[in-house]
Amino acid sequence: MKNYKKIILITGGAGFIGSHVVRLFVNKYPDYKIVNLDKLTYAGNLANLKDIENKSNYEFVKGDIVDENFITGLFKKYLFDGIIHLAAESHVDRSISHPTEFIYTNIIGTVNLLNAAKFIWKDNFKDKRFYHISTDEVYGSLGEEGIFTEETKYDPHSPYSASKASSDHLVRAYHDTFKLPTIISNCSNNYGGYQFPEKLIPLCINNIKHNKPIPVYGKGENIRDWLFVNDHANAIDLIFHKGRIAETYNIGGNNEWKNIDLIKLLCQITDKKLGRKTGTSEKLITFVKDRAGHDLRYAIDSSKLQKELGWKPSVNFAQGLEKTVGWYLENEEWMENITSGDYQKYYNEQYVKR
Ligand code: NAD
Ligand code: TYD
Repeated sequence: MKNYKKIILITGGAGFIGSHVVRLFVNKYPDYKIVNLDKLTYAGNLANLKDIENKSNYEFVKGDIVDENFITGLFKKYLFDGIIHLAAESHVDRSISHPTEFIYTNIIGTVNLLNAAKFIWKDNFKDKRFYHISTDEVYGSLGEEGIFTEETKYDPHSPYSASKASSDHLVRAYHDTFKLPTIISNCSNNYGGYQFPEKLIPLCINNIKHNKPIPVYGKGENIRDWLFVNDHANAIDLIFHKGRIAETYNIGGNNEWKNIDLIKLLCQITDKKLGRKTGTSEKLITFVKDRAGHDLRYAIDSSKLQKELGWKPSVNFAQGLEKTVGWYLENEEWMENITSGDYQKYYNEQYVKR
């Protein structure tokens, strides 16, 4: 193997955020070897990485982080200097209907990676880094006031957030017990291209385009703090290189939106791009049964990351949403490939039968 400055493992690199992180690292660091490990579940898609798949510093490995022997073998083969761990089951609604997979991948999978890193690094942690990517959902739900800081007590409510909270605790425990050089970041809701259309924004754009009902849970009053995915990827780059070991960094857009207001805005932007009269698609809005245990509000205080590492979002929400709607409308083939087959079964179970 060429003499690379660092060999980095990125898990879950064929998913939404992972593909943006892989692309950024492969292009920005030609002197790093980037190994993308992904099981290619329904959410993993190599089409997300077509533009970089032939780069000489990039390698894709198909595999399951739950498979302990496979993970140990992979770490022995590559002797990674750093791990950026994004692989996860990531959708709250799926964690409500099928929780067990979340326990295996998000908890056992993370422990397998921690053990393998501990095994290859022995006690020599110089310039080594295990960076775990997590979510603001571990902090639970806010009322009308307040904001999540790095000190907010964990209070997860869904099987998804509980499994992510559990993995965060284990990552911290491996630092406290074994001195493994770990870092964690907890980010708010991401949006942008290549997101699987089970999540709110791509699902809405796709339904608006096809004149299908837009399912709004409950009264649409829940609030999320939205961040453009490239700004999350930039934060991950900064934290991986400059973040302090054993620290936690919150990442967020300071950009809170009530679901119903966001959906109306998406209707306006999409209608305009499709040449429809502005607002026509609002008639597609359909209020459906609320999500069980639905967290009311998330809001992230990212001032530690801003002050300590100089990060700030590069794109405002209006620009980011314009780009995002444009991306999904232009990438019809990507959407069609994903929404054929199994997606229909998921959609019927989630929305038609409920
Ligand atoms: P995603 O569902 O789009 O992608 C997850 C990827 O992990 C997929 O490519 C999938 O194939 C892979 N994967 C799943 N199980 C695996 C296994 N057992 N072994 C190997 N690979 C496996 O998820 P995402 O939205 O890109 O989220 C990535 C990470 O960021 C997750 O850890 C998630 O908790 C976290 N996060 C997401 C958001 C968000 O808004 N999407 C916000 C904050 C944090
Ligand atoms: P989602 O994109 O699933 O992210 P998360 O649950 O991790 O925040 O959902 C964002 C918000 O949109 C959340 O409050 C649930 C709501 N939602 C709907 O109202 N309808 C939908 O069809 C989906 C998928 C989500």
